Amino acid sequence: MDLTVLPKKAVQGIISIPGDKSVSHRSVMLGGIARGVTEIENFLPGQDCLSTVRCMRQLGVSIEQISQTRLKVEGKGCSGLSEPEDILDVGNSGTTIRLISGLLAGQKFFSVLNGDESIRRRPMARVIKPLQEMGARIQGRDANRLAPLAIQGAALKGIHCHTPVASAQVKSAVLLAGLYADGETAVTEPSQSRDHTEKMLKSFGAHIVTEGLTTRIRPGELTGRKVIVPGDISSAAFFLVAGAVIPDARITVKNVGLNPTRTGILDVLEEMGADIALSNVYENSGELIGDITVTGSSLKGIVIGGALIPRMVDEIPVLAVAAAVASGQTIIKDAAELKVKESNRLQAVAGEFARFGVDLQETRDGLIINGGRKFGGAVTESYHDHRIAMACALMGLVASGKTVVRGAECIDISFPSFQTVLESLSGQN
Ligand code: S3P
Repeated sequence: MDLTVLPKKAVQGIISIPGDKSVSHRSVMLGGIARGVTEIENFLPGQDCLSTVRCMRQLGVSIEQISQTRLKVEGKGCSGLSEPEDILDVGNSGTTIRLISGLLAGQKFFSVLNGDESIRRRPMARVIKPLQEMGARIQGRDANRLAPLAIQGAALKGIHCHTPVASAQVKSAVLLAGLYADGETAVTEPSQSRDHTEKMLKSFGAHIVTEGLTTRIRPGELTGRKVIVPGDISSAAFFLVAGAVIPDARITVKNVGLNPTRTGILDVLEEMGADIALSNVYENSGELIGDITVTGSSLKGIVIGGALIPRMVDEIPVLAVAAAVASGQTIIKDAAELKVKESNRLQAVAGEFARFGVDLQETRDGLIINGGRKFGGAVTESYHDHRIAMACALMGLVASGKTVVRGAECIDISFPSFQTVLESLSGQN
């Protein structure tokens, strides 16, 4: 599918964005292994989260879809999952394959996980290795580096895992396996990644504590509960950047998740000179939620790296749009993880933004963007990567001609209503 975007001036609007992808996945997985019912509100009906629903159903969990965004999960208890008759297909979802690997490692049955072409290229050794250390019988293609993964459930022992990458998916896989281990399991990460798993496990009654960069979990049953999924800051980011870079723009995004492990994009935009205000902030099950209002300003280039990167790992492509408009140079470093996302996002941004006439270059672990030049519209590719497609669409909003994003159907992975929300903004072309 082609998405055509025309430039817009002075955009205004109060918008709502769909539920958080990470929290939606976790609510279905934890709901499935908890005792009792878990009701989920504001669930993200994107393709990735629907892959998790499909896999959990194949594992014997009954999940009723009351409406597009409301689910009722009948938990089976920690040991209640059953052997799937067929391969578990995770589609494009890295969160599904890595977190469910952790869940399956300690079961009493055999299962196979596979996904699309992108999933079969993404690194799996990062979860296979720590799970094997716990005693898991898990194997993958290419000497245990790639999916498909085959898992024969086994008795697990608690370990202290020091992850070399700050990855919430790796941390979560080990913590979920820790529910099935014979004692305490600990994970220490090199810098803080998103902590939705820890927060949700705690609210479901798990024995879990975090101190600094180390989280410890002991086995035990979970209890189902109501989960209200906050709006996804990674989806809000496209409109926050639009609001920040378009002169005379004013955009309010309602009910956005403001978990501090996810708000790197707000810190960076503010450092670049954006005018951002938070309102109606409240807490639900340990997650902060609030409204974000952004008013257009002149941004300047900055240097971004270190511990900020995991706090905005999915927002780098859209941040590159802000950097392209900002005056001066933006340097993004320590971001080599972007090469192993749904696509090689450093290469994709460098290649596609160059088509608009942006002066940028890919480096070993990031991007250097010389902003402030005028750029025109372009015909761009999505690389079958939802965040690349939406970043290119946003470039189309701020460019000076017509933009076409090819392969834009992948936007359904995380933000099925993206085009509707984009078109709902008022403003002149
Ligand atoms: C996610 C963690 C991040 C992120 C992904 C979702 C999660 O991946 O990029 O979109 O839900 O845990 P990594 O853990 O590999 O950094």
